[in-house]
Amino acid sequence: MNKIVIAIDGYSACGKSTTAREVASVLGYTYIDSGAMYRAVTLYFHEHHVSLTNEKDVVGAIENIGIDFRVNKEAGRCDTYLNGMNVEKEIREMYISENVSQVSRIRAVREAMVNQQRKLGRKKGVVMDGRDIGTVVFPDAELKIFMLADIYVRSVRRQNELYERNQLVDLQEIRENLEKRDRIDTSREIGPLKQADDAVVLNTTFMTLEEQVDEVVNLALSKIVGKKEVSLGT
Ligand code: DC
Repeated sequence: MNKIVIAIDGYSACGKSTTAREVASVLGYTYIDSGAMYRAVTLYFHEHHVSLTNEKDVVGAIENIGIDFRVNKEAGRCDTYLNGMNVEKEIREMYISENVSQVSRIRAVREAMVNQQRKLGRKKGVVMDGRDIGTVVFPDAELKIFMLADIYVRSVRRQNELYERNQLVDLQEIRENLEKRDRIDTSREIGPLKQADDAVVLNTTFMTLEEQVDEVVNLALSKIVGKKEVSLGT
């Protein structure tokens, strides 16, 4: 069957990753979490005390970074590996969330990640989520989704996600982190978060995960088979 690229962009904690992972699973596509790549770079910079303002340091560090995704059968997902080490848990910690937007605004970081993301999507049949996937990484993606949701709903969702990972974080702290990241992600010079002209907007405030997945799968199927409406059947 005709394979397409599905780009899902939007604000933090709107349900992009969970939706993208499920959609990929339904369609038999590969899911790529581009945010995890920026998080892994942030972890590397943190561990190696890379100065974000020293371009030579940053470029040198990037050359030493290898990121890949490997299947974790037990958890039913792919884990992120940084230079051969499983960093899936570490990159979701709050100290990474607090610094990732500062790291991902650096030109050299973005160029390296975008190159790698394009390679990963070369053969199509991918669902990639992030901030600039439909605008920069795959401007020709057959399906582009732009997700948004109310800030309170997003904060609660992120708090639950962290709780499931055994992290208890104050709701206000989460909300401030999300708002700060939105600000930096939308205002940066290179690859800012913005809706692609041809993206379908999905406001997930009142949507369940199942509804989000159904919506995106239906849109994808209509692109794949070239029809407007496709019934999934039961
Ligand atoms: O999707 P996430 O919340 O895990 O992403 C973490 C950060 O990475 C986000 O605040 C901004 C950055 N990011 C980016 O700049 N471009 C992307 N395509 C994906 C994420």
